Amino acid sequence: MTRALALATLMMAAQIMGTHAAWSADAAKSEAPKAEADKAAPVKAEAAKADTAKADTAKGQAIVSKVCVACHAADGNSPAPANPKLAGQIPEYIQKQLTNFKPGANGKAERANPVMAGFAATLSTDDMRNVAAYFAAQKPSTGAAKNKDTVVIGQRLYRGGDVAKGIAACASCHGATGAGVPSQYPRLAGQHAEYTEAQLKAFRAKERNNDSAGMMRSIAAKMTDAEIRAVSDYIAGLR
Ligand code: HEC
Ligand code: HEC
Repeated sequence: MTRALALATLMMAAQIMGTHAAWSADAAKSEAPKAEADKAAPVKAEAAKADTAKADTAKGQAIVSKVCVACHAADGNSPAPANPKLAGQIPEYIQKQLTNFKPGANGKAERANPVMAGFAATLSTDDMRNVAAYFAAQKPSTGAAKNKDTVVIGQRLYRGGDVAKGIAACASCHGATGAGVPSQYPRLAGQHAEYTEAQLKAFRAKERNNDSAGMMRSIAAKMTDAEIRAVSDYIAGLR
């Protein structure tokens, strides 16, 4: 999606939430200069496009079948609830996460995770692009909501947020069906509820803080455990 569209999405979310929310102002601020920069540097934008086109899914598959298969499965539909499904995920999002997991020169990673740090550290930028393209091209398996009692609460939060509490609708950034919106907003549909719940709690505790402009931290901060569980269960059944 273009930056302009990303900005429009944010504006839409901002409208749903009311204009006083701190995150929307921050997010809009962080998007605007980038949009300007893109206009000013068409050559750079072209180079980035060519880069994506060069992704080699066969090379990606070779890495996946040797290393990642143990936890994420050969087609990215991991059976274990602690390991996220990667099939059908937005490739730029996968690439960003792998970059964020890889510890920098100071030994710190933007997304701290002891398991993924080691695997990301072995990957070059090309490797990351190739595995991302491979996983993105796989067909995501569907899941199901397990708790009938909370599905209505989960659906309401997902589609409309909670205006009174200032929670933006998840759909405004992640798409009506949870398929994600390229390139910034990840796919959520069909994800293991346990993984989604753990991420929302990590954002809330600010243990995961690699979301640009704090978009997810500010939303999760307003959610109760029950709301997090309800929306996570609902998302598992989205398709
Ligand atoms: C030993 C198990 C294990 C292996 C092997 C493994 N992963 Fe992971 N991966 C995980 C776990 C667990 C998480 C969730 C981390 C968290 O809770 O934040 C994860 C998260 C990820 C994410 C973030 C997904 C998201 O939705 O944000 C990506 C991308 C990823 N792994 C890619 C890979 C790739 C590529 C490989 C192979 C080079 C790989 N993983 C190998 C266990 C593993
Ligand atoms: C303003 C836009 C926006 C809204 C609204 C939003 N999100 Fe997000 N969300 C993001 C962005 C951007 C990321 C990716 C962060 C990163 O780069 O690591 C994300 C990431 C996530 C992740 C991590 C996915 C993964 O695979 O690890 C989950 C889970 C999530 N969002 C759930 C939700 C839920 C549930 C709601 C509604 C209550 C919601 N989001 C509302 C922008 C948004």
